[in-house]
Amino acid sequence: MRRNIVHSGAGSLTYAIREIVQVGYRMRDLGVDVTWENIGDPVQKGEAVAPWIRQIMHDVVDDDASWAYCDTAGVPEARRFLAAEVNKRGGVQVTPDDIIFFNGIGDAVGKVYGFLRREARVIGPTPAYSTHSSAEAAHSGYEHLTYELDPYNRWMPDLEDLAMKVKYNPSIAAILLINPDNPTGAVYPRALLEEMVAIARRFNLFLIADEIYTHIVYNGNRTLHLSEAIGDVCGLVLRGISKEVPWPGSRCGWIEVLNRGRDEMFGTYVNTLLASKRLEVCSTTAPQMVIPRMMGDPRYPAHLKRRASVYETRAKEAHAALQGIPGVLVNCPSGAFYVTVLFEDGVLNDHRSLAIANPKARAMVEELVRGVASDQRFVYYLLGATGICVVPLTGFCCRRDGFRVTLLETDDAKRKWIFETLAKALREYLKV
Ligand SMILES: Cc1ncc(COP(=O)(O)O)c(C=O)c1O
Repeated sequence: MRRNIVHSGAGSLTYAIREIVQVGYRMRDLGVDVTWENIGDPVQKGEAVAPWIRQIMHDVVDDDASWAYCDTAGVPEARRFLAAEVNKRGGVQVTPDDIIFFNGIGDAVGKVYGFLRREARVIGPTPAYSTHSSAEAAHSGYEHLTYELDPYNRWMPDLEDLAMKVKYNPSIAAILLINPDNPTGAVYPRALLEEMVAIARRFNLFLIADEIYTHIVYNGNRTLHLSEAIGDVCGLVLRGISKEVPWPGSRCGWIEVLNRGRDEMFGTYVNTLLASKRLEVCSTTAPQMVIPRMMGDPRYPAHLKRRASVYETRAKEAHAALQGIPGVLVNCPSGAFYVTVLFEDGVLNDHRSLAIANPKARAMVEELVRGVASDQRFVYYLLGATGICVVPLTGFCCRRDGFRVTLLETDDAKRKWIFETLAKALREYLKV
């Protein structure tokens, strides 16, 4: 090429959750029976969509409007419905203009970071959900800025670390939080959210809250939206239907803009998000038409409650199977559908391994583990020895070792096998 055509952030576009898939495919070609535990897609893992929700989609398909473009910001009826839902919570009040649809949170994330001024940084949690951390890093051209989630305090944000980093780095313009969190399964209590809001207020920042798992909360915790705790601070809340319907293939999500009128610059920034969407015309129409009919249906609250209780049972199963292994820390999740297994500092080394019966798979793993992070080494051995495909924690923009497994397996016997096999593999790997 006459000119360097590669974007300066190109190296930051990593997504460990999907990158491991290529290795899984190669293993499968060598005869390993792979159990996919890397991706948070309940449908792929066998969850059947509720028949009454499916029926709403059938009805929407019969409406010609669902085949057309919609307004850039979204279908008016859906925006009115979602604004009213925000207002019913009793916190910040919004109008339908404060609801902007995107093709999933993934699309919204690309624009939220991509259309921030380059020098304006967003600090986010570590471990981090890679879509945010990679997009922020690519936008800024630097490594993503992070605050610590503390595994020894149920993965709660270390607020002192956050406040210090914000104080001494004037380029930080916003704080990202994910509640409930991926990959840790932590759910933030009101007091903690209010402290994060207070930091944002003190340093004149805005907040970005990813609430994709907001209705998957259990173990005595309850849904708390940022709109109920943010007061007068500006914020963007990212919501979607991928996880709670579940319907990840809809590619449908939206932003709730909170306190847009309180800061002129924030308002201008939000306008650019909409302007960038306008260049694409609009987001997917049909799922937006489904939203008010589905979420307004009297069966929807029971649907959410039933799913939360399913994940509560599975979270307890996973925790029971994986806890108590020396050198390993597992917090029982309170929300979302993942468990993070942490290796304590110093327990991993470059000599540990698992017995792999398939000689070709063994040869491949021995080749793959050269020079990789310590937890990635475990992940490759686990894949070769058991077929279970998980994501290393270092793939979540994190300096700690561990891995993430899901609670999504629908077959009870298979799920039991997954957690028990993981526990056995951990003991064998660590020789405890
Ligand atoms: C925290 C978080 N946000 C967003 C997404 C993706 O959302 P969407 O399907 O709306 O793009 C995921 C998917 O795993 C996620 O874990």
